[in-house]
Amino acid sequence: MKVFVTGGAGYIGSICVEQLLNKGFEVVVFDNLTEGHRAAIDPRARLIEGDLRERACIASALAEVKPDAVMHFAANALVGESMQDPGKYFYNNVVGGQFLLDGMIAARVKRLVFSSTCATFGQPERVPIDESLPQNPINPYGESKLLFEKILRWYGEIHGLTYVALRYFNAAGASGTYGENHRVETHLIPNILKVALGQKSHVEIFGGDYDTPDGTCIRDYIHILDLAQAHLLALNAPASAFYNLGTGGGTSVKEVIECCRTITGREITVVESPRRPGDPARLIAGSDKIRRELGWAPQYQAIDKIISSAWEWHLAHPNGYGD
Ligand code: UFG
Repeated sequence: MKVFVTGGAGYIGSICVEQLLNKGFEVVVFDNLTEGHRAAIDPRARLIEGDLRERACIASALAEVKPDAVMHFAANALVGESMQDPGKYFYNNVVGGQFLLDGMIAARVKRLVFSSTCATFGQPERVPIDESLPQNPINPYGESKLLFEKILRWYGEIHGLTYVALRYFNAAGASGTYGENHRVETHLIPNILKVALGQKSHVEIFGGDYDTPDGTCIRDYIHILDLAQAHLLALNAPASAFYNLGTGGGTSVKEVIECCRTITGREITVVESPRRPGDPARLIAGSDKIRRELGWAPQYQAIDKIISSAWEWHLAHPNGYGD
């Protein structure tokens, strides 16, 4: 089976590519390398350097490769940036996504696994967040992913596309070979580990006055290998579906920092800062549906396993992918 992976040079995409190859799939990566890294692409995969925003480019790549399925990771994914530049998010994530779908239909590719996000839910009225809760995004990033989910429904109904949208909670950790290296790092765990490596003086805690036991935000961190496993299962899903994907556990910012101190054995200086706009207090997944329907069973739920894998990768790659 041949899988066409957009954004296969990015953090989540690169690790899913590696896991697909380990299972014997043939993989073609389509990436413009603006956020991703050439060195993050498993050498067993073929790279087509191209841009989703160029309709003819993605259409001809799909027509030539004729994959059995597409995994669509390519997107901009920073909430803060989307509040500054919403047009970038709607154009790249929605228009670029639609060019991908049109190219798939033209090339008769009828199966898609899509990287969606819990940010489509906005400020949830309760946790855990299961698929029955209303989706009311509070930033253009979440809105762009929700718009694409809606486009998917119609392409499913009208063009017979079979899709699985996985709404990730907080992806974290590393695979051993590949890990998290964003050009602009905003995520909590890599930022803490940069302090442990001596590359940053301190990590900021964005808000200590939330309505949570220790006052800091709670997130559902999911190990990247468990996330990749969900993608492999989604490839063979019997029907189109939307799934929330997290472990159902919650860890606060302070707990993550404490765990990083224990695992690294290094000093980590923290500075308490004001809240970051747009951060909900608690995001925890209700993921019964994917467990029940696809048999997804996370193997690395404990936060210390997630952080240990990230730390090993950062120790081995202190300068990330070096670009
Ligand atoms: N945080 C800090 N200090 C930092 C970085 C983050 O205190 O230096 C806090 C944040 O305020 C938040 C938590 O740590 O409470 C986690 O923040 P991340 O930036 O690591 O992750 P987010 O929960 O903001 O974002 C993730 C994905 C997004 C997705 C979002 C859904 O990265 O793509 O979940 O809400 F949209």
